[in-house]
Amino acid sequence: MIPAFRPEQVLAAITPQARDEPDSGIVKAAMHGFTVPGVIPLWSGEGTAPTPEAFARPAAEALLRGETFYTWQRGLPELRQALVRYHARVFGRSFDVENFFVTSGGMQAIQTIVQMVAGDGEEIVIPTPAWPNYAGALRILGSRPVEVPMDFANGRWTLDLDCLFDAVTPRTRAIALNSPSNPVGWTASLEELTAIRDFCRRRGIWILADEVYARFYYGGKGETRAPSFLDICEDEERLLLANTFSKNWAMTGWRVGWLQAPRALGPAIERIIQVNTSGTPAFLQRGCVAALEEGDPFLAEQVAAARRCRDLAVDRLRGLPGISFEVPPGAFYLFFSIEGMTDSAATVRRLIDEAKVGFAPGSTFGPGGEGFLRMCYLKDTRKLEEALGRFARWLEVHSPV
Ligand SMILES: Cc1ncc(COP(=O)(O)O)c(C=O)c1O
Repeated sequence: MIPAFRPEQVLAAITPQARDEPDSGIVKAAMHGFTVPGVIPLWSGEGTAPTPEAFARPAAEALLRGETFYTWQRGLPELRQALVRYHARVFGRSFDVENFFVTSGGMQAIQTIVQMVAGDGEEIVIPTPAWPNYAGALRILGSRPVEVPMDFANGRWTLDLDCLFDAVTPRTRAIALNSPSNPVGWTASLEELTAIRDFCRRRGIWILADEVYARFYYGGKGETRAPSFLDICEDEERLLLANTFSKNWAMTGWRVGWLQAPRALGPAIERIIQVNTSGTPAFLQRGCVAALEEGDPFLAEQVAAARRCRDLAVDRLRGLPGISFEVPPGAFYLFFSIEGMTDSAATVRRLIDEAKVGFAPGSTFGPGGEGFLRMCYLKDTRKLEEALGRFARWLEVHSPV
């Protein structure tokens, strides 16, 4: 007879990394929130608009046409060429088609980078608060996130570059920089990017650049993107960029992204893709071509809507007692502290149950995040207004925990 194993025994038989990885506080909030009727969800990083038909139709047609086979490991040539054209438009630079690799979401671009550069026990330095999947992806693979808290003082987030550089040791393989940042919206200036580039060049380490929110930038007039490492780095240097279709073109559920890397890494990246997903579905990639080729007006509308939502959220939160935050120059989140709050996860739970509004807890974003909540404000404005009203009414009579 096959012996029955108790759950603890089964769990004891897997790797400690898989067993002990903490839950994402964002996912935890969402999973709880799904069970509570009537909650307005502001926990995850996506808007309310579904993917436009102009991008969805080519994918649906390709599926029906029978594009259901294994495909190019690096992505469809048509999509990679469309990426070259997109980058020429947005960054005014011509890249080679061999610099682009299609992945299953921005997340897999990050995972591929980590698998490629950080071995067992090696480190990647990450400013925090940061999207928790970075630290998670590293720990799962046996490498180590070294978290460097940013400062929040006088209503402003700043990154002390000396602290960032001091965290680099002989075990460090990369500095990961997410700009504009999730969750705080902090956006690196060209001078800061240049200092990081120069430091990484001197130390011979990689830059892991996450610019997935680059287009959601509310900086100077007429600027259509945030400053980028692509403005200052050479074609074939130690720069790996993770990007995604998710945010710009309302395609979070598609799980398609891309990785931009030196050409020489092509065979290595292809092998990593082979053993992880064996490629991104070809029919989905047809929709991504349409997003790149026809999606500029939609993206411009999304960014304008995000700016309006940001201003609305800022206006409503500003009047509330005990709340502080920086008006974020980029991305689509508001990261705000509540005076007296020491357990953001418990407060998020109470807000879901009692106020029917769903935020993400600051604690999940690593050192410097506790005491804050994150809201994604890229929502239908009436819903956003209603959610902010619920929060304000809750705060009048309750105290955070
Ligand atoms: C900073 C950051 N990078 C990467 C991603 C990955 O996006 P996706 O895997 O949905 O394409 C996200 C998603 O929330 C993010 O916030």
